[in-house]
Amino acid sequence: MRIRYIVVFTGAGVSRESGLPTFRDVDGLWIKYPIEEVATIDALVRNTEKVLEFYNIRRRKILEAKPNAAHYAIASLEKKYNTVVITQNIDNLHERAGSTKVIHLHGLITQNKCMCPTPHYYDIDITDDRTIDLRLGDKCEGGSQLRHNVVLFGEAVENMEIAYSEVQKADIFIVVGTSLKVYPAANLVYYTRPDAYCFCIDPDESLNLPANFCHIKSRAVKGVPWIVNFLLENPQEISSIMKEGKIVLE
Ligand code: OAD
Repeated sequence: MRIRYIVVFTGAGVSRESGLPTFRDVDGLWIKYPIEEVATIDALVRNTEKVLEFYNIRRRKILEAKPNAAHYAIASLEKKYNTVVITQNIDNLHERAGSTKVIHLHGLITQNKCMCPTPHYYDIDITDDRTIDLRLGDKCEGGSQLRHNVVLFGEAVENMEIAYSEVQKADIFIVVGTSLKVYPAANLVYYTRPDAYCFCIDPDESLNLPANFCHIKSRAVKGVPWIVNFLLENPQEISSIMKEGKIVLE
């Protein structure tokens, strides 16, 4: 098969070695902060201040973080292939590593949005420390409270249709660092073409992957540069790697 189109689907694991915690690992965010207190639409309505504070902390940590070898390797695919990144992450580390086509399914923390019926989105000015945190009473021009551009549980995931259609175009589909526990995003693994080569890079042995996937059991910073190197230097090897079904890189 001639490889032209690559889609990479990422979760929190790709940013872990940039110092950003995942959600469901033993040191994950949802262990420390119960979802229903900080990440649901109900919580935003009942306890706006607490939700704003939770995402103010996330935003500051993300602004301090730097892309890692996995983000850079994914960006380098653009040298040779039409590459689209679909991410569940609210950080902007793919963009900062150089990826130019990034679809955010769960929002982007460097933006605010308002609570007007048709929300407006605002890029924050990261050079002005005073504008980074959001407080109760910070309002848009229409007079509604500003919040972080992050999808909460109970809200629609707006970019799903475009994400499904991107996955259907992929000759190579690479999943990195996601537990595939959150829907509808996790459905993407079922939208691949029958002739696509599908890889998943994640250290978790017990991931529930469709049968057409080759599981590369590895941390992202190791496994992603490894597969990207094949794609850039020896793409003809990809079908034999795929046939292995499972590869352990420690
Ligand atoms: P999870 O915390 O559910 O899963 C993280 C995945 O990363 C697991 O499969 C880990 O095995 C893997 N992992 C851990 N360390 C890794 C490393 N160094 N390299 C590669 N993989 C590693 O995070 P997500 O699947 O991203 O949504 O979570 C999906 C959504 O759930 C998030 O976008 C967020 C959360 O609730 C919302 O808040 C709407």
